[in-house]
Amino acid sequence: MLFALSATMRLTIVFLAALTLAACDTGSFVLTSPETGGSGRSDAGMGGGDNPNPNPNAYHPVGFSSPDLHGLEFNLQEQDCRSCHGSELEGVAQAPSCDSCHSSPEPTAWRSDCTFCHGDSPKNLDGSLVGGFAQPHLTHLSTAITTTIECSACHNAPSDVLSLDHAFDSTPGAAEVVFAAALNPQAGFANNTCSNNYCHGNGRGNNGSVAIDAPAMSCEGCHAGPASGSAAWATMSGRHRLHLNLNGVTCADCHVDVTTNGLAITNPALHVDGIKQASSGVAGFAITQAGQVRCTGACHGDNHQNESW
Ligand code: HEC
Ligand code: HEC
Ligand code: HEC
Ligand code: HEC
Ligand code: HEC
Ligand code: HEC
Repeated sequence: MLFALSATMRLTIVFLAALTLAACDTGSFVLTSPETGGSGRSDAGMGGGDNPNPNPNAYHPVGFSSPDLHGLEFNLQEQDCRSCHGSELEGVAQAPSCDSCHSSPEPTAWRSDCTFCHGDSPKNLDGSLVGGFAQPHLTHLSTAITTTIECSACHNAPSDVLSLDHAFDSTPGAAEVVFAAALNPQAGFANNTCSNNYCHGNGRGNNGSVAIDAPAMSCEGCHAGPASGSAAWATMSGRHRLHLNLNGVTCADCHVDVTTNGLAITNPALHVDGIKQASSGVAGFAITQAGQVRCTGACHGDNHQNESW
């Protein structure tokens, strides 16, 4: 919207903004006072109110143009840049536009380039790649057992740095977890644990729970799997236990659309998608799911006549 303004309008805004800033000099907020150590960080030059910047009009300490300093301060939302750099970060008076030196592909692309701030391999807001939610984020981008899980499955997904409730909100430096979209609208996140969750459940309800630092999961991590044994198979629906106790019967015999060998997910789009797919992997044997599961045909030495699950 800013970029649609006419040159005259822009000049007017700069002029008015300059007036506002000039007025601030005599008020409680003095633009030219140096940035102090109030942020709690200990970068050289930021402590004790001393400003080593030789420019007497400088607000930031020397070296602040480094992304490691101003980028980090932005990501942690240690101060509201908009108060001097403009409501749309377009630059006001001495405080330059944020678009003035961010590099290619074009000066404004950074605003909607999610990896500019969040990294290619998702990083925590403090820049770290271990601890916090960095590893779980990476895991949820994997397509080994299900399709990539979008940010919107667990957050309100913004489209731009200025989007409502994104970087600038009432909880600076903290992410909001919102499960409204996708498969877990009823889930909660507290004490670093996700609960009442469908995706980590056993496929029979919103009964999953998983901690932020949970180890990598095997096929027995959410529901009973090939290695679980009879007691765990009894927690599954219908005649799972009966069949899995029979010699040679595998998950692939009845879920061939999802796994062709019973050990790996061969069609991630159909796994943890909210739908229980049952499909026969045995020639001449049919499973139908219309309303009620029914099985017809010969398998494991038994001839099924439209039997129910
Ligand atoms: C109180 C006013 C104020 C606030 C708040 C403020 N800035 Fe600035 N900023 C300025 C001014 C004035 C300049 C011009 C150069 C200077 O004073 O250091 C500037 C310059 C900059 C520069 C260029 C520095 C250089 O050495 O060329 C960057 C980068 C910057 N600001 C980033 C930020 C970020 C990121 C935030 C928010 C985390 C922020 N600023 C908050 C007033 C402010
Ligand atoms: C004096 C030049 C300059 C100004 C002005 C500037 N930046 Fe930057 N900023 C950079 C450079 C250089 C990078 C590295 C990426 C690049 O080249 O685009 C960067 C990177 C960043 C990053 C990414 C840091 C990371 O995690 O890797 C953020 C966030 C950021 N800037 C925020 C801002 C904001 C907000 C403003 C305006 C308040 C601003 N910058 C103004 C030079 C500047
Ligand atoms: C499976 C759910 C899930 C998905 C998918 C997800 N997140 Fe998160 N995210 C979380 C949880 C949970 C937290 C931790 C919140 C907390 O600590 O209060 C978090 C934290 C964050 C944080 C703050 C990290 C910090 O340092 O505190 C950012 C930024 C973030 N997510 C961005 C994203 C982005 C961008 C995507 C998409 C690429 C994404 N998330 C996808 C669940 C998810
Ligand atoms: C200029 C830096 C920057 C850019 C670009 C950026 N973000 Fe963020 N993002 C942040 C910051 C800072 C937070 C922490 C939120 C807070 O402080 O409340 C955040 C938080 C998030 C969260 C966690 C939920 C929340 O809002 O608290 C998600 C999800 C997210 N961003 C997605 C995206 C997506 C998707 C894009 C690209 C369209 C994007 N971000 C671009 C800086 C950025
Ligand atoms: C993160 C939890 C989780 C893990 C780990 C997991 N599953 Fe699942 N699985 C589910 C859920 C939830 C369902 C319920 C049906 C659905 O939504 O697809 C399911 C359903 C299935 C089904 C029934 C067919 C279907 O998708 O509807 C098979 C077969 C299956 N999983 C096999 C496996 C195998 C093999 C592994 C290991 C490679 C595995 N699962 C690991 C959560 C998981
Ligand atoms: C004899 C056929 C058969 C075998 C073998 C079988 N399943 Fe199933 N499975 C089904 C049927 C039928 C359903 C129910 C579909 C429905 O409710 O619509 C189902 C449902 C599921 C569900 C959803 C939750 C539930 O308990 O209903 C999961 C998870 C699942 N199977 C995993 C597996 C895994 C993992 C294996 C191998 C260890 C396996 N199944 C072996 C037929 C089978």
